[in-house]
Amino acid sequence: MPEISTICKLAFIALICSSYMAPPVLSVCPVLDCWYVKEKPGSFPSAMTQEKSLLYIRTSADQTGPEQNHPADIDPKRVYHVSDPAGPLCSSSLLTVEGAVEKPQCEINPFTPQPAHVDWSLSLTSGGVSPARLGADWLSTSITAHKGDIGVSSILRVPTATGQATAVLSVFSHTPVLRSRLGRAARLDCGFSVLPGWQEPGSGFAVEWRYQFRGEGRLVYAYNGQTDRLEERSAQQEEASMDLEALHQTGNASLLLHNVDVHHGGTYICTVYLPYILAQVAMELEVIEPPRLSLFPSPLWSPPGRPVQLSCEMSGFYPLDVGVQWLWRPAGGAGVRYLPEAQLSGHTQNPDGTYSQTSFLRVTPESGDHQGQYSCIATHLGASYRKTVTLHIAGASGPSIEDAIGLFVVAFLLYGLLKLGSWLFCVKACPAVEIDKSESECLPLCSRVPWWLKSFHF
Ligand SMILES: *[C@@H]1O[C@H](CO)[C@@H](O)[C@H](O)[C@H]1NC(C)=O
Repeated sequence: MPEISTICKLAFIALICSSYMAPPVLSVCPVLDCWYVKEKPGSFPSAMTQEKSLLYIRTSADQTGPEQNHPADIDPKRVYHVSDPAGPLCSSSLLTVEGAVEKPQCEINPFTPQPAHVDWSLSLTSGGVSPARLGADWLSTSITAHKGDIGVSSILRVPTATGQATAVLSVFSHTPVLRSRLGRAARLDCGFSVLPGWQEPGSGFAVEWRYQFRGEGRLVYAYNGQTDRLEERSAQQEEASMDLEALHQTGNASLLLHNVDVHHGGTYICTVYLPYILAQVAMELEVIEPPRLSLFPSPLWSPPGRPVQLSCEMSGFYPLDVGVQWLWRPAGGAGVRYLPEAQLSGHTQNPDGTYSQTSFLRVTPESGDHQGQYSCIATHLGASYRKTVTLHIAGASGPSIEDAIGLFVVAFLLYGLLKLGSWLFCVKACPAVEIDKSESECLPLCSRVPWWLKSFHF
């Protein structure tokens, strides 16, 4: 039948075409240069040793990795082939361009599986029997992309002396460094993935968020996914929440801070507990509020040769890290220069924890400086903010056309009023005959009183 052979031909062509047009997608996973860091056995106080190490990442165990001509300075024992079916280690952010100087930071440490030790995760290992599959070598890795767009920590299981590792648990964050303005909501990103098939049904997980700043730490949020229990929340924890539905469905353990204030800045650690293993990723929250600038006096009027003080008030900024420069720009625009003589006040702290500070500049403008501009330029964490005021030298401004017309009209009216006043005075003070004379003997001015005023009697 011709139809069938046609269909066959078309199908064949389609097959050929599709195999040309859409070649099978080869997922490219990174090869990572790492440091294998461990405690020197028997050293006191404990010292660390570090060795070079190499991780070949791929998404399945039987996928063949890239060719293994690893550098001679790496001990073959420290070369690992890591399969990560869940995928966070195979992130494009961790790929390095050949020969690039900037590389992801990667550290590997030996890891020992342990029963849970914090209250809210005790239920995870309450069975008390550690599974046989824990019998292997374990490593923990901590990797941060050089651009800072992802941080991943993974727990790897390495059957003893094989170098073939499998990522069992990965915890990652897309916000290793997060900046937030005051009063905004901030999402500290954290997600986790577990090796498919690793977890026994119902064995559960727990998530913990801790906050650390200058050596002080506190628990922000703790949730046991097995018992669906939230740990007691203190007043401080009210300000944070987690989407528990997303946590169970997609392993999205992000923490939402509802209203960021200056006390929220610091390190946050997202820890995910599975029975006997845990992994954690740390991130920095930087609270940043730029300064608001006001420049006084404004408008700026000054007589020539008299010193005047300019103040540039920078208010409501955080953290305390501000620099000020003053710039003078003459009217023509040529000869712009920085003015070095400014003084910075001490800072004051506002009730919301932000700071205010003022810079003072004394200048003695000359008449030639008319229409020049003073600018106060504040720099705060690499960004700059500017306020400008124009100088008016009193007496130096030539009148505009409108000013001239206005002045003329006013002068004309004033003259008229004065004249009328003097005439009225004549009429009152001098006898009518005197006014009529061409040369008045009463008052010389009174001879020119107009006729329509002469008959005016009070
Ligand atoms: C978690 O959910 C938020 C909001 O939907 C999203 O922006 C974020 O990328 C997710 N993070 C992870 C790790 O899945």
